[in-house]
Amino acid sequence: MRTRISGATCVLPSGQARVDLLIENGKILGIDPPQTASADEVIRADDLMLIPGVVDDQVHFRDPGLTHKEDLRTATRACAKGGVTSFLEMPNTKPATITQAKLEEKLALASEKCLVNYGFYIGATPHNLDELKRATRTPGIKIFIGSSTGDLLVDNQDALERIFAETTLPICSHCEDEATVRANSLRLGGGTTYEDHSRIRDEAAAVIATRRALDLAIRHRHRFHVLHVSTAAETELLRAPQGLITAEVCPHHLFFNIDDYERLGSLVQMNPSIKTSADNEGLWKALKDGRIQVIATDHAPHTLEEKQQPYPQSPSGLPAVENSLALMLDSVNAGICSLESVVHWMCDAPARVWDLVGKGRIAEGYDADLVLVDLHKKQTVRNENQQTKCGWSPWNGVTLQGWAVRTFVNGQTVFHEGQFDETVRGQEIQFDHARGGYWAEKPSGLETSASHS
Ligand code: DOR
Repeated sequence: MRTRISGATCVLPSGQARVDLLIENGKILGIDPPQTASADEVIRADDLMLIPGVVDDQVHFRDPGLTHKEDLRTATRACAKGGVTSFLEMPNTKPATITQAKLEEKLALASEKCLVNYGFYIGATPHNLDELKRATRTPGIKIFIGSSTGDLLVDNQDALERIFAETTLPICSHCEDEATVRANSLRLGGGTTYEDHSRIRDEAAAVIATRRALDLAIRHRHRFHVLHVSTAAETELLRAPQGLITAEVCPHHLFFNIDDYERLGSLVQMNPSIKTSADNEGLWKALKDGRIQVIATDHAPHTLEEKQQPYPQSPSGLPAVENSLALMLDSVNAGICSLESVVHWMCDAPARVWDLVGKGRIAEGYDADLVLVDLHKKQTVRNENQQTKCGWSPWNGVTLQGWAVRTFVNGQTVFHEGQFDETVRGQEIQFDHARGGYWAEKPSGLETSASHS
């Protein structure tokens, strides 16, 4: 079946253009084809923007083992609604994804349940170096250099040295220094208020761990992605040599700060913690000047009941996959950044960081993972409308302008104007690590616009 998407303004690697697209067999067959080119179906998309599907490179979907919070079906419905067509999931499920066998079990589960494309990291422990060396069918290795939800932690220097020295897959890390967090916690008697979370997981904890991880990556010349940078101070460290290091920021660290605890309490309790308004500013600056390349959500659902426990029993994490694109499109409408930049940060850059085959841009031969976006549409985030199983959002009640109205996964419509086609199945994402990651490709026009928006 050949489909023509007609009338939309497309965000192409070269910039915006009002061109038709032909898609066939799940791929982009042609851009700006002649009007005479035959098609079995024409989708009119006048007044809409067409962008590549979002690639979210940091999510926690809780399946297997924690499916009272979320599962791969509910999470990927949320993705489809939010314009996320590919996700890379973290290993802190139950059991944790720390062997090739567990990774392949997750891939099998995903092939049955996922409405969008999927990939899974392998998690590091102090004792699974051989598994990490042999791992395949994965974007890379996740190290919790500081502990978070679950019990994955590699804090020991010798173990870290060996992982960076002896493995070849790209590595990403949760960077919060365990010793600093423990000392802060002791000083504050474990903490009693949600605000204490940001005093315990403070700026120093983030900076010390990020510095330590960058030192390992640079000494071992190992490709390394800093997950969820949360402080302006860390962005200063990201002036490190390009070619090796990439970094990511999450919407909650861009949009929330410690003043929001009063209103939202544990709903904004995250690891790394939210910081100050000056950090919000510093993170935006680093994103715009290219020191941070990627926006991802760290979607980490917990039930409201779990979240409503007093600190420190309240778990850290918030859901975001269905609102992240809208939050960024709202920022486009507010004149804060350009649509091209958003596409770079959320689609092309993460696809390049992790060597995804056929993802992240609208180009011939690429997969037809596409999102029709209505930049004029205003919609209020409501807990009762959330697709995530946990059923709440920290943005509840916030009206955002700019929403995905139709999401295509490998050419198939999975979400359209509030309706889902649950028969659609995503595919296992392919990784070609020989490509060498984000910096291996010459900067595109999009990066230039990213650095000036
Ligand atoms: O707040 C967080 N929650 N940060 C993480 O890195 C993990 C996540 C979770 O899995 O709940």
